[in-house]
Order: sequence, then structure tokens, then C-alpha cells
Amino acid sequence: MKHKSPLITSMVNAAYKASKSLVRDFGEVEQLQVSRKGPGDFVSAADQKAEQTLIQELSKARPKYGFLAEETGLIKGEDTSNRWIIDPLDGTTNFLHGLPHFAISIALERDGKPFAGVVYSPITDELFWAENGQGAYLNNERLRASGRRNLEDCLIATGMPYKGHTSHPNYPQMLDQVWGSTAGIRRFGAAALDLAYTAAGRYDGFFEFSLSPWDIAAGLIIVQEAGGMVTDPDGETLAIEEGNVLASNGHIHNDLIDTLHNSTNARS
Ligand code: IPD
Ligand code: CA
Ligand code: CA
Repeated sequence: MKHKSPLITSMVNAAYKASKSLVRDFGEVEQLQVSRKGPGDFVSAADQKAEQTLIQELSKARPKYGFLAEETGLIKGEDTSNRWIIDPLDGTTNFLHGLPHFAISIALERDGKPFAGVVYSPITDELFWAENGQGAYLNNERLRASGRRNLEDCLIATGMPYKGHTSHPNYPQMLDQVWGSTAGIRRFGAAALDLAYTAAGRYDGFFEFSLSPWDIAAGLIIVQEAGGMVTDPDGETLAIEEGNVLASNGHIHNDLIDTLHNSTNARS
């Protein structure tokens, strides 16, 4: 059993605390589905409540650190090297529709790079976590990205664009290339979990465009610490503010880049 550092412990405690209200509210959402107004406002209140709990708990643990939080935005801290990047509810659309696939994502960014990450899925009680140089874990078990080397055996996750959220102009062609070269594609709707599942070897790769820093900061370090690779879809260093992500077990990374690029060459 891996001993959690005080840093990870404070992140995990904050995630557990925020998850309590999320789980209660998720139970309510299932009731609200049938009402005509729907659960929209209720869910955004649940989201904000969870974020407030995270901010309170993490501020108690590290009073000088600032935040980049999805709902609140930037909160400057006295310590300019460290800040928390948080998404209190990743997978909002799933939550809203009563689908139990969502997570809390907390990253500590140190000197501009993700240093530690926690992604917690309250319904399955799966806690994915990693700290720089210390490996990645699911609950107390060490995580390793998958060993698959042939694209045709690989399961690839992605995030599709939706109303108001654009993607790469060649995204449909990319899908066409990827589904023609792999064992299949999944779109489960929570980017933090897509990355955590890639770290766990459930997926062999994941790509999505136009994500936000809070969707990816925690998952990124978890993939890297599990021995996987994260770049942008061109194979260049990922800029978390740009949010164009390609994660994989490392073995298929170049093949996946070529596959995405084939679509560009073939169709443009
Ligand atoms: C979303 C999820 C989804 C991705 C979206 C994100 P949210 O986050 O991660 O999988 O496709 O682009 O915005 O809004 O549920 O926190
Ligand atoms: Ca998100
Ligand atoms: Ca969110």
C-alpha cells in the first residue's frame, strides 16, 4: 500500500468532502429528470457548492496557494509558484442526465507544470492520484498504462464537439481514420476520467481538442506517472491553456499521431 504524502492527503480529503454533496445532489437529479423545468439550475448550484468546498478545504491546507477554478476563475495567491487547478464536476452533462460517470479533478500546478493530481469518481469510489516522481495509483494500487503496441488492438477515447463547443475542423475525418484503424472509440463525457482511464490501461489512448486547463491538469500528471505519454495532437509539448490533447500508453503515440494526420492529408 502506497503511503500518501501530506500534499496528496489534503487533495484527497478535499475531494472526499466535496463528493458528499455531489453524491446527494446526484440522487436528487434523478428525481428532477421528470420535471418539465429539468435539473439544469439545480446542477449548476451543485457544481458551485462543490467548488466552494474544494476552495475552502484546499485553502485550509495551503493558505498561500492561489486557484484556477472552473466556476470562480482565477484567485491569486501569495505563493506565486503554486496554484490549484480544479474542476468540481467534470462530466456535467452526464450528471445532469443521471449518468453516473463524472469526477472531481484537482491538480497542483508548480512552477507552471502539473505536479500532483487527484481525479475522484464518487459513484464508483475510484480515486486516481499521482505526484511527480512518485508513480500513479488507483486507490492503493499502482497504475500502469497499457502495453498494447498494435493500433488495431487499441481502444481509443475521445471527446466530440457539441453545440457551442467546437473542435478541429477535420474532427469527423479524424474519427473516420481512428475507427478504421483501431478496436473502437469511446465517448464517455468526462475528460478527466478519459485521462485517468488511459493511465489505468482501460483505454490505450485519448484525444480531444479545445479542452480547458481544469479538464486536463490532474489527468495529465496521472498519465505521465503511469508511464504513458501526453502531448498535443501534433506530438508537440502540450500547452494546457490550448487544451488540444493526445494521451496514450506511449507505444502507440506516433501511430496515433500519424492516423490523425492522415485524415488531414486525405481530406483537406
Ligand atoms: C467537459 C467534459 C467533456 C468534454 C468537454 C468538457 P464539464 O467538462 O470533460 O468530456 O468533452 O469539452 O467541457 O463541462 O463537464 O466540466
Ligand atoms: Ca470539465
Ligand atoms: Ca466542470
